[in-house]
This record gives sequence, structure tokens and C-alpha cells, in this order.
Amino acid sequence: MPALGVDLVEEILALKRERNAVILAHNYQIREIQEVADFVGDSLGLSIQAAGTDADVIAFCGVHFMAETAKILNPSKRVILPDLDAGCSLSDSCPAEALEAYLKANADKNYYVIAYINCSGGVKALSDVICTSGNAVRIVNAAPKDRNILFVPDQNLGQWVMEQTGRPMELWKGSCYVHVEFTKQSIERIRAEHPGAPVVAHPECTTAVRLLADEVCSTEKMIHYCRDHSAKAFIIVTESGMLHRLERELPDRIFIPGPTDVCACADCRFMKRNTLEKLRDALDSLQPEITLPEALRARAELPIRRMLEQSV
Ligand code: 13P
Ligand code: SF4
Repeated sequence: MPALGVDLVEEILALKRERNAVILAHNYQIREIQEVADFVGDSLGLSIQAAGTDADVIAFCGVHFMAETAKILNPSKRVILPDLDAGCSLSDSCPAEALEAYLKANADKNYYVIAYINCSGGVKALSDVICTSGNAVRIVNAAPKDRNILFVPDQNLGQWVMEQTGRPMELWKGSCYVHVEFTKQSIERIRAEHPGAPVVAHPECTTAVRLLADEVCSTEKMIHYCRDHSAKAFIIVTESGMLHRLERELPDRIFIPGPTDVCACADCRFMKRNTLEKLRDALDSLQPEITLPEALRARAELPIRRMLEQSV
């Protein structure tokens, strides 16, 4: 008898061939999706893959802004997202209309707007350059020295980048509902239980948590950090899906999920909306499809291209 899910995986692989599709998955996706994907990575790596693929269909297993970024970068491709309700609280914390109104009301500041990629196409279209957690320091360092920077939408990432670069920035007051769940107490407790295990945290965590970390970095850089470190065990302070990726890449190491005050790990309910069944159905029907008006797409592409140029 085939193992549970084997038929489903075979169906997905057959549909993928039939549709000439590529499956891109974020590091926070469930293990089964990571295993069936052609590429698993962070927001930066996924953007680069989406921009360069020659597949006809991009099946994007992540959240909406990531799939939208893929469409913005490669508009002739059909981009599908297994569940259209896979949103992002951080992206929602900065509506394009609110940013536009703020920029109008503060036109005298002549802001250089740096937007973290976790935002809508509308916000990207209002921005000068995009960054990810993997390249934020580099992008801020490259910003024109004579301009005031407005950094949107993540205040925690923004705060961390200010500390790294020494560049003052005005911060939009958005945050990720998952990463702010980690607390000083919850991380001190797990660290006391595993003395010697380095604490690796995502920059979307609060300052109190980041101060406890041995390393603060993007999800992709977590792999490099753990690979290059001599420790056997690591405390990983980010969304729980990251542990699947780390365990696959570094099977000889032990990864302990960072807990919150109420849970042993933190799940992003948006990332977890995608399932193998929904991926199969999306490849079959080529729905739900990501679309956006061409004028908006073209405007949003410019700051993403600027980011990619500055990332090499
Ligand atoms: P990374 O680009 O580091 O993978 O982060 C994406 C994200 O959504 C973090 O919450
Ligand atoms: Fe958005 Fe946070 Fe989920 Fe990342 S973990 S997709 S920032 S809600």
C-alpha cells in the first residue's frame, strides 16, 4: 500500500510536468510542500528564482505578497497561489492608501521610501527601493545620503537595520504578529534549558528578543550560520516551518524551536493555509491566479529591480 500522500505527490509532479510549472516554496511552508518544491528559500531567493524561470506557470507556495512579487517580476507567466487567503499581517499593517496619504501630508520631507518586501504591490509602487531581511543592511547603506528615509512596514526590522547601519530612519509602526509573540522571558527560559545552544533570531523579532540572540538574520542565512557553526544544537527563533528546512539541510544538528509564552513554537496561520491538496487543485485548475493592473505592476517592478541590482 502506498504511504499516505504518495499518490498526491505523484499527481502534483505529473501536473507540474503537464503544465510546465515550477514549484517555489518559502522556508515556512509545511514539510510536505517543501519536499515537493523545485526551490525552497527566503523572500530574496524566491524573487530571484521567479524572475529567472522559463517555466510557463509559477506555483507559489508562500503568502500573497510573495506570489504577487513573482507576477510583478515575470508578468508573462501564470502565477498561482494554492490559497488566496494566505495573506500577511505585516503587509496588512501598511495599506497603500495610508502610505500615500502620509507621503502627501509630509511632502516637505522628500522621503526616500524603503519598503520591506512584505507589502502589497500598491505599497511597492509608492516606494523607491525594496529590501528583504537578507539584504536590508546593504540596501539601506546604498540609500542616497542626502535623503530622509521612511522605512515601511516593519518597525522591528527597521530598528535592527538602524542599529546595523547607524543610518537614522523613520519607521512605519507595523509588525509581524508571529515574531512579536516571542518574548524575553520565553527565550530566556528555553536558553536556560539548552545552555550552549546559540540563539538564532529573525530580525522581525522585538529588540528585547534580538538582544538575547547570538545571530540575527534572514531565514536563508540561518542555514549558513548553523552550517558554519561548531555547535550541535541551535534555538531557532522564527516561524516553525524553518525547522523543516534546517533539518533537511543539516541532518546531523539539533534544532529547538523558539517558544512563545503560550506555545512551544510559533506558526504563521497564513503560511500554513497552503496544503498539498490545494497545490494539486491549483495546478489542475490554474487557479487561484495572481493578477494586477499593468500600470501598477510596471510601477511596482522598478523598486524591486533596483533591489535586485543592488543585491549582486
Ligand atoms: P525571509 O525573507 O527571511 O524568509 O522572511 C520572510 C518572512 O515572511 C518572515 O516572516
Ligand atoms: Fe507575514 Fe509574519 Fe507570516 Fe512572515 S510570518 S508571512 S511576516 S505574518
